[in-house]
Amino acid sequence: MTVAKKPNNRLKLVLALLATAPALWLAYLISQEISLPTSGLGPDPAEGLLHYLGDWSMIALLVAFSVTPLRRIFKQPMLARSRRMLGLFAFFYVALHLATYIVLYVESSWQLLVADFVERTYITAGIAGFFGLVAMAVTSTKGWRRRLGQNWLRLHKVIYLVIPLALLHLIWLRKDGFGDIALYILWFSILLGERIYQARKPRAALTKGL
Ligand code: HEM
Repeated sequence: MTVAKKPNNRLKLVLALLATAPALWLAYLISQEISLPTSGLGPDPAEGLLHYLGDWSMIALLVAFSVTPLRRIFKQPMLARSRRMLGLFAFFYVALHLATYIVLYVESSWQLLVADFVERTYITAGIAGFFGLVAMAVTSTKGWRRRLGQNWLRLHKVIYLVIPLALLHLIWLRKDGFGDIALYILWFSILLGERIYQARKPRAALTKGL
């Protein structure tokens, strides 16, 4: 029994280390910034930090969304065991991105936050996406899964709204240089296409879930 579990645990550990790497690199950049201003996070450190965390939020969301299709395509059921962990990592990066915005951009002013939410569509989309992720993170435990039953699957389909909202957030805030956005959209479209293909297979739709 313990022997069979080992490869799963090793894969999960490798994925956890990979998911932690951007945070560790950020810690290094911040230490550089402290010892020599602008050497770690660029000429505008607040912007550098916000953008770094925004980029990794987007990538982490797409990585978490890739788990189920990859599991099916490569027939690796043990990947499913890492899905919750990768989803929580995505939530972690988005929460840090939001915290940076609250502390360094609106300087913890709820009035400014609400004004931005109302006036800037990219902030509205970002916050809406964040609330979707909060609902998923809170209900990601086994206890909530048991309590919600079929509704758990329905609730976790909110990811199909969260990622487009994150993409809209990015499209609306960007003024030029849309290369990375095009790649994110392509990545999301391929994953969505795989899911639609699976859902159209009558048995797969019933047994394979999200
Ligand atoms: C839903 C998850 C979110 C994702 C995936 C995300 C992703 C990103 C990305 C990729 C960038 C641009 C980085 C770049 O251009 O290099 C960005 C910038 C930004 N994000 Fe987010 N974000 C999210 C949620 C939020 C939330 C909730 C807020 C605040 C309420 C927020 C505020 C900002 C701001 C202020 C910028 C910089 C805008 C500028 O440069 O003018 N984001 N975000």
